Amino acid sequence: MPDPNIIPQKHRINKDDRKNLLGNDSFVIWFTGLSGSGKSTLANLLEQRLNEKRVLTYLLDGDNVRTGLNKDLGFGDEDRIENIRRLGEVSKLFLDAGIVVLTAFISPFRSDRETVRELVGKENFHEVYVKCPLELCESRDVKGLYSKARAGQIPKFTGIDSPYEEPLNAELVIDTSALTIEDSVSLLDDYVSGLLKRK
Ligand code: ADX
Repeated sequence: MPDPNIIPQKHRINKDDRKNLLGNDSFVIWFTGLSGSGKSTLANLLEQRLNEKRVLTYLLDGDNVRTGLNKDLGFGDEDRIENIRRLGEVSKLFLDAGIVVLTAFISPFRSDRETVRELVGKENFHEVYVKCPLELCESRDVKGLYSKARAGQIPKFTGIDSPYEEPLNAELVIDTSALTIEDSVSLLDDYVSGLLKRK
């Protein structure tokens, strides 16, 4: 139940004013996928491309946010749900600020991603499934976490003993087991260029 004693303020300057100032619309590119699938790498490279085009962006990344805003959260189901709930709210604020938001969280639960989609508005939410088989993520093991998880040193590791629910209707699927990084970034760049042309 909303608190009847909380009365939201209406501001003189709104998202449309900021859009006029910045020259483009804002939206959320929500990367999801297993650890080691390539979310952060692709989000980083896409952000660089957008920066070169003078588009104002902000990249929210799981490992980084978990050292600050969400440092009180772990990896049990409830904490993961709270992690994504907060990051959905943060994305909504950045969106309202007129900034193109890129997020790189495993975000393993379908219902949480759908909740964020509703929260920020369907037209603003673009889910990118960074698809890569567990075996390949595990063989890459960029951070050495899969081997620790297999050794029982990290409980509830996604893909090992905690589920990952694949998107059913992602706006874009990038199969990083089949594509080069360059081709993956080109696909993303094309997709986002289309969004930037929207009025
Ligand atoms: S999420 O599941 O809540 O969306 P998030 O993206 O914030 O996860 O954080 C994932 C990162 O935390 C991984 O890339 C990995 O480096 C690290 N990590 C540490 N413990 C775990 C775990 N149990 N499961 C998955 N990732 C973990």
